[in-house]
Amino acid sequence: MSKDPKDPNYRPSDDPKVVTPNEARATGELPNELPHHAKTITFHQRLERNATLLLAASFAVVTVGGIVEIAPLFWLENTIEEVEGMRPYSPLELAGRDIYVREGCYTCHSQMIRPMRDETERYGHYSLAAESMYDHPFQWGSKRTGPDLARVGGRYSDEWHVDHLMDPQSVVPESVMPKYAFLADARIGTAGVDDLLATHRFVGVPYTDEMIDEARADMRAQVDPMGDADGLLERYPGAQVRNFDGLAELTEMDALIAYLQMLGTLVDFSTFSPDDSR
Ligand code: HEC
Repeated sequence: MSKDPKDPNYRPSDDPKVVTPNEARATGELPNELPHHAKTITFHQRLERNATLLLAASFAVVTVGGIVEIAPLFWLENTIEEVEGMRPYSPLELAGRDIYVREGCYTCHSQMIRPMRDETERYGHYSLAAESMYDHPFQWGSKRTGPDLARVGGRYSDEWHVDHLMDPQSVVPESVMPKYAFLADARIGTAGVDDLLATHRFVGVPYTDEMIDEARADMRAQVDPMGDADGLLERYPGAQVRNFDGLAELTEMDALIAYLQMLGTLVDFSTFSPDDSR
């Protein structure tokens, strides 16, 4: 009697640890030896032990999976639906977006509402591809320590945002969000915002020469409710013009809140029908 499975004299029925199907039938125990006709298992065992074969088979599986996912895109007329209201971000919003990225807000907040009932009831209409079309890089995120922010615009007052960013626990006591009070002290100049727009144009955002030329003035105009914002509103329809942080200076807080208050407010959902864009 041999207990070594490699020994030619080895018989599973002799091994006390092995319950063959025959023994199982007699004793009512569960069999732990596979029947000899379990070919699929032995085939897979062979595959798993042969690195070249496994590599070739994995490649075949990934290829089929890839084709199934990618090929339909060639027959779709467009992957970004056409919606009304979507426009490039105003200079102030874009500067605020830069601060959002710089501070790593995306490590705790997503900007992508999935088309599932629990999400659409909590956050609003599911996110459209068009809503991220001017985002370089996109801010979908992969982690929700805090809530999704794709439609946070207009949900709270500017004062709430100021209080919340200065000291999140003052408005939501159990919050784990860090304090960003320094943003109110950080003045932000308009120098460089035209280059920021030009950079985004370089990667495909349709900023015109006029938008770039007027960028510095537009950035100031958006925080000056007494000023002349006609040009700004013509270039960026629906831009919200006001002193976002209530301070006299133009600060990073202004820019960030302008960005947050714009999120999710651009697309006109009264004119959007998902069927037309399929
Ligand atoms: C460590 C994770 C973390 C980081 C980083 C973070 N947040 Fe939050 N945020 C939270 C949590 C948790 C909440 C929910 C509790 C609350 O409202 O404070 C929240 C809530 C919010 C809300 C309210 C959302 C709603 O619908 O109620 C806003 C707006 C917000 N954060 C903006 C920001 C911005 C802007 C930044 C970057 C400057 C940022 N957060 C960075 C964790 C974070």
